Amino acid sequence: MTPLIAPTRAGLSDPAPLLRWLEADPVSLDIGSIDPIEMWGLVAIAAQARRDGEGPLRVRLESQSGSCQFARAVGFEGVIEVPGRVSTPPSERGRTVKLARIQRQAPTEPASDEISRLLVPEPALEDTRRTLYYVLNELLRNVVQHSHDPLGGIVGAQLNRGGRNSAQPMVQVAVADAGIGIPASLQGRHKALTDPKEALARSLWPHVSSAFDEGETGSSQNAGMGLFFIAEMTKLVGGRLVVATRGSVLNLEGDANFEDPHGRMTLDASVGYPGTLVTFEMPAEAEQDYDGMIETIRQRAKERTPRRAIHKWLSFEAPPVGTFKFIVRHTQVEDAGRAQAFAEEQLLPRLLKREALVLDFAGVATCTQSYVHALLYEALRLAWARKTPIYILNAQPAVRSTLELLENYALGG
Ligand SMILES: Nc1ncnc2c1ncn2[C@@H]1O[C@H](COP(=O)(O)OP(=O)(O)OP(=O)(O)O)[C@@H](O)[C@H]1O
Ligand SMILES: [Mg+2]
Repeated sequence: MTPLIAPTRAGLSDPAPLLRWLEADPVSLDIGSIDPIEMWGLVAIAAQARRDGEGPLRVRLESQSGSCQFARAVGFEGVIEVPGRVSTPPSERGRTVKLARIQRQAPTEPASDEISRLLVPEPALEDTRRTLYYVLNELLRNVVQHSHDPLGGIVGAQLNRGGRNSAQPMVQVAVADAGIGIPASLQGRHKALTDPKEALARSLWPHVSSAFDEGETGSSQNAGMGLFFIAEMTKLVGGRLVVATRGSVLNLEGDANFEDPHGRMTLDASVGYPGTLVTFEMPAEAEQDYDGMIETIRQRAKERTPRRAIHKWLSFEAPPVGTFKFIVRHTQVEDAGRAQAFAEEQLLPRLLKREALVLDFAGVATCTQSYVHALLYEALRLAWARKTPIYILNAQPAVRSTLELLENYALGG
């Protein structure tokens, strides 16, 4: 076998050289020898180089090369250090965002919110920021929920204007962990999914999850929708998604001219990543329509949800006078953990006693799938079982369609 040669470049159009190198379990790497390096490359290396990890990769960044300067500027040394040893100065607005760790027990919403705001501070690009928030939050949730990496994950983000992006500036976000990988995670519940390439492709399907059996559509925590939404967003914004995990790499490119709604997907089983590394890229300055995009994805999800007897149980009519009412507040950072605790403490006990409920969404412009899932998946199934109505008041169209999608899969299984 020819010995592996250390990579000299790390661009998203050809991630294989760096990935192949990392898979070969190298003991040391000189970042100065890879020039230029994109943010995803630093994230991929950092997840393997954490000093509190097992047999960490030793990384050198001494040279004055552009890649070493970039790595230092985004806090590479701090993020691989044992937490608590160093404090990294906060990132500057609108500049490249510092690398960060996400701990295994941490809520993912604040980090996703902060990074997306730093990366896209312009009010005119609000819909780009919301898209990035969604992607980051789903990727970080996946690290926390599925990776089994005791150190959690690494997240980085970058605005790319030069090189291959000089004509079309792109924003890139990348999340990596050194955990069990997607195929092993799915194998627990999907015994027939033994081929890593097949498992990776399936992870992008709606309602495919390690949290519940094949044919079902959700558990109290998961709906198997995170990667599906991200893949569909990639197509709809004309972006790029690269998922590298143990045993294979998936590359999905949206059509920049928006003529092909399916984009182009390739799978490569000759290379992988020791853990899971996901990179998402989208045009930095193009106008986006976040609500329209989410609506399109929900439609696509509905079409692919198994169509058994789907029960309609949420009522959008006026409730009888005196029905117990909860106000759902619009917090900018939606906290799925709190939503689930609220459901357990407030909603489920009432439904168990067959008390009808009203949820008032006045002032809530949109909410993410994972938030609505945490708030209402169990409650809706219990309400159906107890034949106790849940009334929804003041749901704007985007909120209503999120609720209807939930109803579709929660009561369709
Ligand atoms: N970082 C990761 N490490 C290991 N497995 C992962 C990782 N990310 C995703 N997976 C696997 O891919 C599956 C699909 O992920 P996806 O985000 O689409 O759905 P989910 O997390 O199960 O549900 P939801 O995102 O709707 O809460 C997961 O259930 C898990 O088995
Ligand atoms: Mg997920």
